[in-house]
Amino acid sequence: GWKMEDVLDAEISAIKKTLSPEDHVICALSGGVDSTVAATLVHKAIGDRLHCVFVDNGLLRYKERERVMETFERDLHLPVTCVDASHEFLSKLKGVVDPEMKRKIIGKEFISIFDAFAHDLEQKLGTKPAYLVQGTLYPDVIESCPPPGSGRTHSHTIKSHHNVGGLPKDMKLKLIEPLKLLFKDEVRQLGKILNVPEGFLKRHPFPGPGLAVRVLGDVTEGNALDVLRQVDEIFIQSIKDAGLYDSIWQAFAVFLPVRSVGVQGDQRTHSHVVALRAVTSQDGMTADWYYFEHKFLDDVARRICNSVRGVNRVVQDITSKPPSTIEWE
Ligand code: XMP
Repeated sequence: GWKMEDVLDAEISAIKKTLSPEDHVICALSGGVDSTVAATLVHKAIGDRLHCVFVDNGLLRYKERERVMETFERDLHLPVTCVDASHEFLSKLKGVVDPEMKRKIIGKEFISIFDAFAHDLEQKLGTKPAYLVQGTLYPDVIESCPPPGSGRTHSHTIKSHHNVGGLPKDMKLKLIEPLKLLFKDEVRQLGKILNVPEGFLKRHPFPGPGLAVRVLGDVTEGNALDVLRQVDEIFIQSIKDAGLYDSIWQAFAVFLPVRSVGVQGDQRTHSHVVALRAVTSQDGMTADWYYFEHKFLDDVARRICNSVRGVNRVVQDITSKPPSTIEWE
């Protein structure tokens, strides 16, 4: 084991040595642990020559934008621009039902928004940003090119995983990847030294394409996204209240594009079905579905149907990975 304080010092001096005093650096924040810790570290090294952007793609969870922006600004004092691109993303996703198609559209749109941010910044600064910060971890490095004898041969071919931070086309940016020798638990330790709030460091992973892969079918249909946000928030809050959040790798709700018959009050309803998914895992490559107490599930299902309009049925996903994947799309 390395001492994380030493790793931090070494990374900061390496960045100071590599960059010249005029160099400006950009970073796309996803709201996840890796990009946040990477940006905080670089900010410590070069201050406000770092320029971060957070993109609201219209596919974020309940109050996610407000919550992460508060952490970036109030807790970490990061220089960050929030771009609301919900309209751009959602209009391009209209009518799209194929999961891979959704990922491609979202990835492409993200790059175009990031490109625009970088060009605006160039106008403002009168010089091109020279570097891009990415929160690449060691497992990402060895996954794309496993060292001999490491026994790691896995590569993501099942889903075309999109992460925030695709390279803008014509910017010729050099990369800063301060976490590329670290594992996830080491990034969390580093984050702790950098005063990233504990609750933030323990957040469950969230996919780059966001709620688009949790609303099956067309994400723009009706109020699917809004219903999903409310259901997901009730589920996650209940998990936190029960003290279970840290024992679970990922928990979330999925919106199903089917209606079923129900009875609420003395009315017959024909409303939506939502699924609850929670899994334990080491690294997301395999996962086991999580056993909740029946009482817990009963409470959550009641709360959802009583407070979310348009939902009259709650089911739980009881498959592991394999044969299922963690996300439904
Ligand atoms: P699956 O669904 O493949 O997910 O079992 C494994 C882990 O990866 C996350 N995931 C994604 N992350 N872009 C991402 O950044 C994606 O397109 C994507 N798809 C899945 C998933 O949430 C889980 O943690």
